[in-house]
Amino acid sequence: MDVASPCQESGYLRRVMIARILFSSATDEWPTPRDFYAKLNRRYRFTLDPCATAENALCPLYFTKEQDGLAQDWGTHRVFCNPPFGMIGKWVRKCFEASLAGAKVVLLIPARTDTRWFHEWIQEKADAFYFVRGRLRFGQARHSAPFPSMVVLYGWGSKIRLAQCARCGQPFDAKRRDAKACSNACRQALHRNTSSAVDVTQCVTRPVEKHWKNQRPV
Ligand SMILES: C[S@@+](CC[C@H](N)C(=O)[O-])C[C@H]1O[C@@H](n2cnc3c(N)ncnc32)[C@H](O)[C@@H]1O
Repeated sequence: MDVASPCQESGYLRRVMIARILFSSATDEWPTPRDFYAKLNRRYRFTLDPCATAENALCPLYFTKEQDGLAQDWGTHRVFCNPPFGMIGKWVRKCFEASLAGAKVVLLIPARTDTRWFHEWIQEKADAFYFVRGRLRFGQARHSAPFPSMVVLYGWGSKIRLAQCARCGQPFDAKRRDAKACSNACRQALHRNTSSAVDVTQCVTRPVEKHWKNQRPV
């Protein structure tokens, strides 16, 4: 049995501590990995980034902390939301409520399935959600995030079947249940090297007609 030496252990713990501090709610400025966003944007063509600064905004239309994206009307925009880590529950609720008013939302958040906000605003209400394989590396961070991430969809209907590309690891809208790759290039690469293929990530989808679809936010 492999046993980590005290040195290896302290190195690991140090990295975990650094990552924890960096990703604490003390800072909000952790931008979405560019390649991760690019894949999603290719599919969903986002028009609004409701939590941003002028420097890290992903769409020409965005809201800053001063404008307070939570208090704004998101209209019928196609929204990409990577919220500040400190107030995730409020943003999850806003995403759901905005979708009832016509917005289409993709939300990137830590996968915390034990939280109240997960059970209240995602579990039964999202069109789909899926868990990202591995850990994302946000912005210029040297280390990966100390938490797993999830992508949540509101307002797109149940036709969406998010999956994770078995080659490049990016999320994509799988047209077929057994789809494994996000593009022809990835499909061909997998075909050439089938040994590197891994299973498509399970995702959860919801039927279109759900009773809450017609509910107004409380
Ligand atoms: C995790 S970063 C996301 C940055 C960028 N939109 C992205 O996805 O790469 C969250 C951003 O939300 C901003 N923010 C914090 N509170 C906000 C609020 N109430 N309304 C709008 N933006 C806010 C922070 O300044 C920060 O830039």
